[in-house]
Amino acid sequence: MKLMFVGPPGAGKGTQAVRIAARYGIPHISTGDMLREEIKNGTELGKQAKTYIDAGELVPDEVIIGMVKERIARPDAANGFILDGFPRTKQQAEALGAIAALDAVININVPDSKLIHRICGRRVCSSCGATYHESMLEDQKHCPKCGGALYIRDDDREDTVKQRLAVYKEKTQPLIEYYTNIGILHDVVGSGGIDDITETIVEVLEKK
Ligand code: AP5
Ligand code: MG
Repeated sequence: MKLMFVGPPGAGKGTQAVRIAARYGIPHISTGDMLREEIKNGTELGKQAKTYIDAGELVPDEVIIGMVKERIARPDAANGFILDGFPRTKQQAEALGAIAALDAVININVPDSKLIHRICGRRVCSSCGATYHESMLEDQKHCPKCGGALYIRDDDREDTVKQRLAVYKEKTQPLIEYYTNIGILHDVVGSGGIDDITETIVEVLEKK
């Protein structure tokens, strides 16, 4: 199953993609996570990408397209994958279309008023990568799953989040029409309990 999750920053793409990937035994491919890994490792690509990410702008298409092509060519993606945060522009969608046919695009809808609160309260584990909202945590410093140190993403400051939302509306939202026209887009309500949303996505995928 070849899937793509689309939605604004904070919609819950990563939260849901981790669960759906585990359910179907396919890899979760997040371009944001891949870029943050490059930054952590101090690579040339990471240094280039950091300027864009910290400003809430998109990393240039050619960099991202090359990175995703290489990733989906790996053996673990042979039976399918979940793309989270890619494609984000029409050029990326067309490049993907030339190498893989998606079975479904899940569009996670959350009102803008909730997004800023969700993102500004996000905490990520530096060890296992799990994502939380501060309101879910008793201990704000350590991951409840593995004990790793929790951190706040550099691009989760309110002014950067507003810019990311504006970029989403301008560059990525048009893809909703693009995939609707292809006939593979499914809308899912992304506000509500995390478990309920996972079950809704599974229902959508099973019905296809
Ligand atoms: P990326 O990492 O993809 O960030 P994003 O799209 O802005 O989305 P987020 O990761 O912020 O949100 P999410 O939808 O995954 O939400 P999450 O599940 O974490 O990209 C970062 C940057 O990298 C971009 O700005 C760009 O610069 C660059 N980049 C990446 N891909 C690129 C591409 N293809 N082209 C060019 N540039 C690219 O949840 C958010 C919070 O909400 C968490 O705290 C979570 O616990 C909470 N939450 C989740 N679900 C619920 C729920 N149901 N109820 C309450 N809280 C919830
Ligand atoms: Mg994410």
